[in-house]
Amino acid sequence: MGQLPLTAPKFDDHELQLLKECLASGWVTQGPFVQEFERLFSARHGVATALATTSCTAALHLSTTAIGLGVGDEAIVPAFTWVTSAHCVEYTGAKVVFADVEFGTFNLDPKAVEAAITPNTRAIIVVHLFGLSAKMDEIMAIARRHHLAVIEDAACAVGTTYNGKPVGAFGDIGCFSFHPRKVITTGEGGMVTTNRSDLATKVNSLRNHGSTGHPAGDPTVGKPYGMGTFNVLGYNLRLSDIQACVGVAQMRKLDALLAERRRLADRYTQLLGEVDDILVPRPPEKCGHTYQSYVIRVVKGGKAKRNTVMERLASRNIQTRPGTHSVHRLGYYVDKYRTRAEDFPVASACEDTTITLPLFPGMREEDQQVVVSGLKEALVS
Ligand SMILES: Cc1ncc(COP(=O)(O)O)c(C=O)c1O
Repeated sequence: MGQLPLTAPKFDDHELQLLKECLASGWVTQGPFVQEFERLFSARHGVATALATTSCTAALHLSTTAIGLGVGDEAIVPAFTWVTSAHCVEYTGAKVVFADVEFGTFNLDPKAVEAAITPNTRAIIVVHLFGLSAKMDEIMAIARRHHLAVIEDAACAVGTTYNGKPVGAFGDIGCFSFHPRKVITTGEGGMVTTNRSDLATKVNSLRNHGSTGHPAGDPTVGKPYGMGTFNVLGYNLRLSDIQACVGVAQMRKLDALLAERRRLADRYTQLLGEVDDILVPRPPEKCGHTYQSYVIRVVKGGKAKRNTVMERLASRNIQTRPGTHSVHRLGYYVDKYRTRAEDFPVASACEDTTITLPLFPGMREEDQQVVVSGLKEALVS
């Protein structure tokens, strides 16, 4: 048997047909397919504006820049997340202040957020990790009380809801990923969502070199030599139409992809929920889960046991990965902030004891059975 992969994108003739259309049109950079992708995405997520970009990391960078983070400011970031939830703060010269997460959800612990606030705090980067919504009522109440901006890192959370409403529209700005491990993919790609027109204007300009168009009354408008102006320092972080046409095809089947993920996740939970020595995901009330990753925890034997289980699964050709990083233990942050493992003990334990199991659209029942029986045997000491 070949390797049972952690994930696999699902493409069909629709992506191929739109790719042909795009290439035949001769327009391959940001254009009509980007516009259509943004339209479908904003409608599905109930936001005024969606702006496509080259990755979620780019979306986060654009967002921290657009909200005006800078030197002297602090932003609160969960200590258990992908590294760019923190890097996006560093890019602006602001300081990352980590807050610990909850064991049960892997998401920001609202009590830890409150405790991390100082007079310099300007923003909270709240992550909906693995497709599970963070506790947005609590996070937004803290943000309002302390007048903080909220950036939702929804990299894993296309289609995720909180209290029935899509994430990405609770805070000031939301950021999504279309990396191949995500719910829909464009190879690489990302999206910024916002209901704030001021932020939409800034992000739109920043992703396009800082283009600010024509000044009011500019007589060169519409002339062949009219060039517009660039009043801010921007970047080229535009998504191409070649990628966006794949995104359009993926968006049109999003609901089916999500339904399949939920069905597979429910089956794992049913088959693994009572197994000793592991914990399976149990979403709290109000918090929707799209199972971008199905992440379990090994509750006895610590990191050594977790690693043995992963090695045993690998020997059976079953691919797994740890959940994600405890970012405060990564070299850049240790060197800069002198953070220690024990400063954020839950995040450290999450990195050391989690396993992501294979889950992807098209996964067959027998494949799931192979994972379940392999895992049960691997857990036996
Ligand atoms: C929580 C989180 N934030 C940000 C990112 C970055 O996304 P991208 O690879 O699109 O830059 C990821 C990707 O895995 C992620 O999981």
